[in-house]
Formats: sequence, structure tokens, C-alpha cells
Amino acid sequence: MEIQENISLKPYNTFGLDVFTSKFVEVSNVEELQEILMNNNDPLLILGGGSNILFTQNFNGLVIKNNITGITVLEESNKEIVLKVGAGEVWHHFVLYCIDNNYAGVENLSLIPGNVGAAPMQNIGAYGVEVKDLITQVEAFDMRDYSIKIFTSLECEFDYRSSVFKTSEKGNYIITSVIFRLNKEAKLNISYGAIEDELEAMKISSPSIKDVSNAVINIRSSKLPDPKKIGNSGSFFKNPIVPTLVKDKILAEYPETPNYPQLDGSFKIAAGWLIEKCGWKGKRINNYGVHENQALVLVNYGGAKGIDILRLSEEIIKSVKDMFGVDLEREVNII
Ligand code: EPU
Repeated sequence: MEIQENISLKPYNTFGLDVFTSKFVEVSNVEELQEILMNNNDPLLILGGGSNILFTQNFNGLVIKNNITGITVLEESNKEIVLKVGAGEVWHHFVLYCIDNNYAGVENLSLIPGNVGAAPMQNIGAYGVEVKDLITQVEAFDMRDYSIKIFTSLECEFDYRSSVFKTSEKGNYIITSVIFRLNKEAKLNISYGAIEDELEAMKISSPSIKDVSNAVINIRSSKLPDPKKIGNSGSFFKNPIVPTLVKDKILAEYPETPNYPQLDGSFKIAAGWLIEKCGWKGKRINNYGVHENQALVLVNYGGAKGIDILRLSEEIIKSVKDMFGVDLEREVNII
């Protein structure tokens, strides 16, 4: 474990932004983390897969790259398995591990960028599944007293792209591992339109979890840019949740607006659709812009500055507000 100085973070953020940190260290277990933190006086930034972050400037402090890995079986029955997974495992590798072992539940979440530790942080979700339904506990390191705390799923206060780690406990904990309960008997969730269509196109009538995973991989690859080729951080904005009145006002003018009723009576509106309607989809400004297949995704074509992408996001927020009266919120963390 060596603290390096003046390191480029370009390989460590999926936007591919070339910013520097004054100090950088990789930790591979809780003891190393503890040792580093007990001897640190610099401002801290914890990095997982770097897939939900927009660097607008260099970082003057210590970046800790969480490389705590490993998958351990905690409990097993004929029907279920409980796995403890290190926060530094690459999310999609974990999904593939589950599929290879026939552990069902995470297949709809295939190909989501980032590491396992980020999954509870923002309650990742796709194609009708949210990770909160699979997580039983989260193990986290308390940066204030160097102790380990176990959060139950309830204590995580999971919400749409949110958890206690992004809200009231922001900055207090480092997630070290996540405990998942998965099924040995698949209960497939394929009612999401795009998955049904893709399975049909693949000519599969009774899909396995591997088929569902492949369908999701096909859909994602066709709509979302591969961060290895074009820098991006997935959805840049959250889908806004609005009261019925606002939804009705939008629908009166644009009846085709995709909207999804929520349990509390409000409605989630597809931000990608709103942004597209404002004319942003596929718009390119020099070396950055809005992705051509999914307007929710901002991209760095190479060499862009984070501050330009941030300004672009501000312009998008303003135009959606002007046209629809809806406030868009960013999903990514701005540094
Ligand atoms: N749409 C448009 N134009 C666009 C993009 C979308 O009209 O440019 C429409 C689509 O046609 C569809 C609706 O908006 O009717 C929803 O689009 P999509 O199914 O692509 O999903 P999304 O709501 O835009 C969310 C997640 C994604 C996740 C997909 C699939 C958020 C912020 N994003 O996107 O997650 O992959 O659903 O379930 O909730 C991520 O968080 O990084 C991410 C990629």
C-alpha cells in the first residue's frame, strides 16, 4: 500500500476526464483502509468504479480507490443463497458470477458500470429491478471512529437512486461489502417492454437468467455508449417525480410523454424524453455532448473538460424547466 503523488484520475473515472489528485492510494482490505484513515489529514475522496462522478477540477487531497474484493457464501439452502461481496468487485463481474452459478435476481442489472460498493449507495436499477430488493445488509466503515457498522436494508433508507449514504449519512461511511440474498429458483422479471421485445427478437420463449442477462446486454449496448469507447457516466439526470397536476399539464400538450405512476400517487416522467423534446438529443459541442441514442446520457468524445459538461447540464436543466416547468436533478456527483 503506497501513497502516490500527483496522479491522473483519467483511468479511474468513466467520463475519462483528465484531472489530477495530489495523493492517491489503493486499499484492498478493511485494515489497510483503517491504517490510511488514522494517519490522514487531507481532504478525502473515496472512489469505486468512478462511474457516477464528474470531475470539474483537480482534487487537492487523498483519493482512496476501494479495491476490497472477494465473494463469500454466508448461508445456503435449496432455494436461496446469501453472498457477502467486497465493495471493490466490478458490478458486472459479480452479475456474471451469479449467472454462471445460477443465482437469480441480478440478471436485469447486467452491464451497469461501476463497482459493487456503489450499488447500495445509489440503489442502482434497470429494467424493472432495483438492487434494494436483493440487498439484506451493507457493511460500512465509519470514518469518524474507525468502526465497522452493519446497516440493515431498512436502515439503508433506499429510495429511487438514493440511500442513507447519499443523504443523511453522506460522507460518513465507506461501504466495504454488500450482502445479497439471491434465488436458486429464478423468478424472472421480464415484463419491462424492451426485454420482452428483445427476447422475442432472440427467438427465446422460455428464457433462463442467462438469456435475460443477454437481452439486457443487447438493449444496453444498443442505447448506451460503452465508457471504454466514449466517456460517460450512464444517466446524468434522475427521472423527475412530479405531482399529478404537473403530469396532467404536460400530457395535455404532449399526450405521448412516457410517465409511470408511483406508489404515493405521484408520477415519474422520462427525463430522456423531456430532454429530447427540448432538442438536445445527439447535440455535439466540440468534444462533448448529449448521446445520440439516449438523451439522459452526456458524453465526452475525448479531451473534454468536466466544467464544460457541467455547464451543458445546466443549460439542459434550464431548457427543461422553461419548456415543461420541471426541475431536473443530476444523478452524478460533481467534484
Ligand atoms: N426516451 C426518449 N428519448 C431519449 C431517452 C428515452 O424518448 O432520449 C424515452 C424512451 O423511449 C422510453 C422512456 O423515455 O419511453 C424511458 O427510457 P429508457 O427505458 O431508456 O429508460 P430511462 O428512464 O431513460 C432508466 C435508468 C437507466 C436504466 C433504464 C432502463 C434512470 C435515471 N435511468 O433510464 O439507468 O438503464 O431506465 O431501466 O432512472 C443509469 O442510472 O445510469 C441508467 C442507465
